[in-house]
Amino acid sequence: MLRHIISMKDFSRDEIDIILKNTMDFEPIARGQLSNLLSGKVLATLFYEPSTRTRLSFETAMKRLGGEVIDLGPVEKSSVAKGETLADTIRVIGNYADAIVLRHPREGAARMAAEYSNVPIINAGDGAGHHPTQTLLDLYTIMRECKLSNLRIALVGDLKYGRTVHSLAYALSMYHADMTLISPKQLQMPDVIKKDLKKQGASISETTTIEDVIGDIDVLYVTRIQKERFPDPAEYQKVAGIYRVTEELLKKARDNLIIMHPLPRVDEIDPSVDRTKYARYFEQSFYGVPVRMTLLAMAMGVV
Ligand code: CP
Repeated sequence: MLRHIISMKDFSRDEIDIILKNTMDFEPIARGQLSNLLSGKVLATLFYEPSTRTRLSFETAMKRLGGEVIDLGPVEKSSVAKGETLADTIRVIGNYADAIVLRHPREGAARMAAEYSNVPIINAGDGAGHHPTQTLLDLYTIMRECKLSNLRIALVGDLKYGRTVHSLAYALSMYHADMTLISPKQLQMPDVIKKDLKKQGASISETTTIEDVIGDIDVLYVTRIQKERFPDPAEYQKVAGIYRVTEELLKKARDNLIIMHPLPRVDEIDPSVDRTKYARYFEQSFYGVPVRMTLLAMAMGVV
């Protein structure tokens, strides 16, 4: 059976633990050790929305494992511009590649693509929906740089439209993390997700300021307020720049706090924070490579 990677809800805690464990073995390869594990395999990347990290870390992962990558390129230069449907594009590209990485602005697009695909679909972000490969690299970062047990974490920023935090909150509930959701009222995590999380026994509280919890948490997970997701630009202006992590704020932090961010950032973390012992967001972007190696090897049936 094809193993698509669409949402964190498709994974059990045991499966996640195995992925995290296997990723340790891929880390030396991500750092340059030679491998031919995916020699002869082809990955197709289809990005209908901008990306730097997800696209390039999948490409790096594939190439460092000896595989090849074909890329749809800018959608306006593909036959999508002639009106080709996503379903047809997926059916065709499945004839060229062993797996497809898909980013699309429409929520649910990856699950729909999976219905038409004869090769595994890996969801690289579907609108405000899910971003499971980001979550797996986030969990790996927490495991490597902090701890996954008895974790106290605050998720900050755009919790309404932020697919990274939606996926991460689902996964963290499986690890019984203590979660604080920090956002302005109009960007709170959707009720349907909070209900789901509570059903899984998650411990969640909500507030509007980082200062409320900065002294009590192990991980501060910061996200960008996503201008491109707001239907009304005036609504974006009301919350733009509302959070800014600074060295001053961090004076109240626990000594072993780590700060994460899926990136890109705009102004929510002051660049002076990059030099502090708390910053882990660039390490986090590196961990995307070994995690995606594990997922590619899994999708292509070689582990
Ligand atoms: N974190 C993340 O998804 O980054 P990109 O949008 O650059 O892929």
